[in-house]
Amino acid sequence: MAKKIGVIIGSLRKDSFNRKITKELIRLASDRLEMEIIEIGNLQLYNQDLDENPPKEWVDFREKIKSKDGILIVSPEYNRTIPGVLKNAIDVGSRPYGKNVWDGKPGAVVTSSMSSLGGLAANHHIRQAFVFVNVPLMQQPEAYIGNV
Ligand SMILES: Cc1cc2nc3c(=O)[nH]c(=O)nc-3n(C[C@H](O)[C@H](O)[C@H](O)COP(=O)(O)O)c2cc1C
Repeated sequence: MAKKIGVIIGSLRKDSFNRKITKELIRLASDRLEMEIIEIGNLQLYNQDLDENPPKEWVDFREKIKSKDGILIVSPEYNRTIPGVLKNAIDVGSRPYGKNVWDGKPGAVVTSSMSSLGGLAANHHIRQAFVFVNVPLMQQPEAYIGNV
């Protein structure tokens, strides 16, 4: 049975290059992987107070992540780090304490940029957060898509 991969895009832009790259990756892997884009633009900003009675969007997002065998992030770099919307999604999935939905899920990271650096800094900042939420990440090949 094909592994189920949840794909998170770090850009909300309608004509996002990262969304286009994601669609192509889904097409290329369609004979081996069941990939689904999990949208993050509707997630309320993480606030620990809301964890007592979490918004439906958080609950649905956490359930979606739990249902997947692995996670792929495809993201731009914003100001040499992770786009806020992506960091928010990582935070929402990591809480409440003890119920981290990322825990142990294998992951991979692709970054792209209009510059030749290909989102290198964002790629490694995503990796840094994923160490803490215990996502074992594919090391090679690395994917920094420059001059997108
Ligand atoms: C707020 C903001 C900050 C950005 N910072 C960087 C950056 O640090 N490094 C970089 O290579 N590109 C940066 N860019 C340019 C993005 O790589 C470019 O806008 C890219 O197209 C965004 O991805 P998208 O097409 O998927 O929306 C930035 C863009 C925005 C809007």
